[in-house]
Amino acid sequence: MSAPVDVRTAAVLSASGVTMQFGGLRALNDVSFALSDGEIIGLIGPNGAGKTTLFNCLTGLYTPTSGTVEFRGKALPGDPALVTETGVARTFQNIRLFPSMTAEENVLVGRHVRMKQSPLSSLLHGPGFRRSEKEARDRSAELLDYVGLSRFAGELARNLPYGDQRRLEIARALATDPAVLLLDEPTAGMNAQETEATRQLIFKIRDLGISVVVIEHDTKFIFTLCDRVLVLVQGELLVEGTPDEVRGDPRVVEAYLGAPPDEVEAQIHTAEGSQ
Ligand SMILES: Nc1ncnc2c1ncn2[C@@H]1O[C@H](COP(=O)(O)OP(=O)(O)O)[C@@H](O)[C@H]1O
Ligand SMILES: [Mg+2]
Repeated sequence: MSAPVDVRTAAVLSASGVTMQFGGLRALNDVSFALSDGEIIGLIGPNGAGKTTLFNCLTGLYTPTSGTVEFRGKALPGDPALVTETGVARTFQNIRLFPSMTAEENVLVGRHVRMKQSPLSSLLHGPGFRRSEKEARDRSAELLDYVGLSRFAGELARNLPYGDQRRLEIARALATDPAVLLLDEPTAGMNAQETEATRQLIFKIRDLGISVVVIEHDTKFIFTLCDRVLVLVQGELLVEGTPDEVRGDPRVVEAYLGAPPDEVEAQIHTAEGSQ
């Protein structure tokens, strides 16, 4: 007799009934969703809807007031470092690089999570340490190349153009060998060309077998990137569906897009034209 399939364990990352209360403010109310292997989910919603708060709950930065977060059917530890080790990596809406470290060093920091070295070996710089250090440097170089930043390897992070700092954050997140990558407004402040390069980069990351959740305001970007879109409004999941379902939903047009339907239509046609 085969065991029944539990849909939650089939998901790589899932939230179930997540509520987050800050004093009198309910930033998230009973939010549930599941991310499947190889899926790209888009998370959209007005400012203050609770998108970043949801990422904080998914990464152990906040402990939900109620509800659960699971990674492959097991409760995620409520500690950001352990969450990273489990396989969930993220980038931040406000870039959090080490500005006075080089691009390569920033990626090495991410790699550190996967370096298995005894403290004594590290202290003595023994052969095990040197091997592991070389492996980490090679991997960092590979990742910088992957996101198109090889030329900046030795440059201080703060000297990188803004869009490249966002890409460097993605490289650092990838250095932790994640199964899931959470991107909080990865194209904020980017021009059209950089945005398109980021869209292609996210497809490439998905093709590596990494599942992605991406927060963005740019609906054209979201609708042409994601398999599924979640719309969060005032802490509640208002609509969930394919890009086609979501952009055609009158509640989304009214509550989120906030524009008359014909304007939204025009935006959607532009998005289709750019595919
Ligand atoms: N640590 C916190 N303490 C108090 N209120 C918070 C905290 N984090 C977020 N909030 C509030 O929760 C709401 C949702 O914020 P946020 O998740 O940042 O929205 P979004 O990312 O969708 O713009 C906002 O009203 C914000 O002020
Ligand atoms: Mg936010």
